Amino acid sequence: MFHAQTYTGTREENYALVIEQLRALISDEKNVVANLANAAALLNYFLQDINWVGFYIAQENELVLGPFQGLPACVRIPFGKGVCGTAAAEKRTVRVADVHTFPGHIACDAASQSEIVVPMIKDGHVIGVLDIDSPIKNRFDEIDERYLERFVETLVRYLDI
Ligand code: SME
Repeated sequence: MFHAQTYTGTREENYALVIEQLRALISDEKNVVANLANAAALLNYFLQDINWVGFYIAQENELVLGPFQGLPACVRIPFGKGVCGTAAAEKRTVRVADVHTFPGHIACDAASQSEIVVPMIKDGHVIGVLDIDSPIKNRFDEIDERYLERFVETLVRYLDI
């Protein structure tokens, strides 16, 4: 069973704990949908000031909506389009302090003000992205970027894709 807990350490310690919780949740399970769903739920429980967190899965040259928490969202995003498609096409984390200044940003929830997208890379290929939106500007910093990348690395290691 998942033990809901308060995160009382430094931001780095809290992220490290969340990554351990992720490992505990997914390491004995092979089902991809179940593992992505629990990963999204875990981040939604842990992160403050977010309005959407979830996954898009690569299929041919598109990203297709996967498990998430938040409002219903756009289903298909071509590689190279929006923040998600840019992160997937360029195989790098894209952190946007103000989505209104990002050319081609795809608005799924009007509340979103800032966003971070981390590509999921397995054997050199992009298999999807983690996307997180916040209703406040400049929500995500270098610490979020570094630890969300570690979170995604751990997830991908166990993911049967
Ligand atoms: N804003 C994203 C689209 C996905 S939603 O935020 C859930 C983008 O520009 O790619």
